[in-house]
Amino acid sequence: MKLLITGGAGFIGSNFIHYWLKKYPDDQITNLDSLTYAGNLENLKEHENDSNYKFIKGDICDPEVVNDLVRDCDLIVHFAAETHVDRSVMGSRDFIRTNVEGTMVLLEAAKNNNKKIHHVSTDEVFGDLNFEGKSFTEKTAYNPRNPYSASKAAADHLVRAYYHTHGLPITISNCSNNYGPYHFPEKMIPLFITNLLENKKVPIYGEGKNIRDWIHVDDHARGIDFIIQKGQVGQTYCLGGDSEITNIDLTKKILKIMGKDEDMIEYVKDRPGHDLRYAIDFSKAKKELGWNPKISLDEGLKQTIEWYENNQEWWKNIKSGEYQDYYKKQYGNN
Ligand code: NAD
Ligand code: TYD
Repeated sequence: MKLLITGGAGFIGSNFIHYWLKKYPDDQITNLDSLTYAGNLENLKEHENDSNYKFIKGDICDPEVVNDLVRDCDLIVHFAAETHVDRSVMGSRDFIRTNVEGTMVLLEAAKNNNKKIHHVSTDEVFGDLNFEGKSFTEKTAYNPRNPYSASKAAADHLVRAYYHTHGLPITISNCSNNYGPYHFPEKMIPLFITNLLENKKVPIYGEGKNIRDWIHVDDHARGIDFIIQKGQVGQTYCLGGDSEITNIDLTKKILKIMGKDEDMIEYVKDRPGHDLRYAIDFSKAKKELGWNPKISLDEGLKQTIEWYENNQEWWKNIKSGEYQDYYKKQYGNN
């Protein structure tokens, strides 16, 4: 099978490519990525000379590039997006452009060439839950509350609209917060681990009571694989890690594994419109696909911390590069 992966140089896309080529070595992958600040070819260095892997630097908003690549593939797996909530608070233009317009360009190309597309989305489209609220399911009404989640919600609606209007073969996954190797160190887990490795404090927004459900990126990749192999066209599947935890408790776990004191915590100004809680009920994926997450949060965190300890060049290059400007705007000079 020939797969066109969009956004494969980012965190989840690159982990998915590693997963796929290991499991299906006879398949061919083309990775279309414009290499924004979040795209990094270092993530895929081990495949750069593989005959079944090809990288194309290009923008998913460019219909000509996209159409040629879509014509030549059997299946599109769409990861490319602007993904950081805090950046979307600073400005949403790039989010609308890539996440909404880019998805539309891909859908048009898929329609014109009659190709199947799997759209990778987030649980953030459902808005937030209070502490007692039931977990999100595929039936939960959309209620996005920040520009990132609003742009992803718009993209999900477009994907479903192409299925209903044009009969385009689509599937969608809405997944909770991922963590693992190659995670860009502006997101909470990799930021905190790399700060601690540099002996810097970790900035917790507000009081740290917000809850997220964390899934190891390999479990997410397996979930997408299960949807591609067994999912029904037109259907959405929620994927979660079965690991709900407050930000403060998660931070304490990281501190403990890394042998650091709680005085490394710094409470900083809260994120505007900070969603309180995300939680996923993945029983549909379990029942219909036989999927469930396999890596526990404790085991996954240990592995992930080890990865950042052993790959310091990878994240030090990022932290010392152009990303510095964003980091300073967010956290001062800490
Ligand atoms: P990421 O920010 O690490 O990577 C995004 C990739 O997309 C980068 O390589 C970037 O260069 C590329 N890209 C951005 N704009 C592009 C454009 N116009 N054309 C081509 N390439 C472009 O993101 P991620 O965390 O790997 O997320 C991947 C997908 O998974 C996104 O769609 C995101 O919404 C979704 N998702 C993420 C999480 C999470 O916890 N990170 C959870 C659920 C769903
Ligand atoms: P993040 O990794 O940005 O993912 P998302 O906003 O998509 O859930 O943030 C995870 C949680 O951690 C979220 O509640 C915000 C919080 N957070 C901090 O407390 N400090 C930080 O420096 C960052 C980046 C996030």
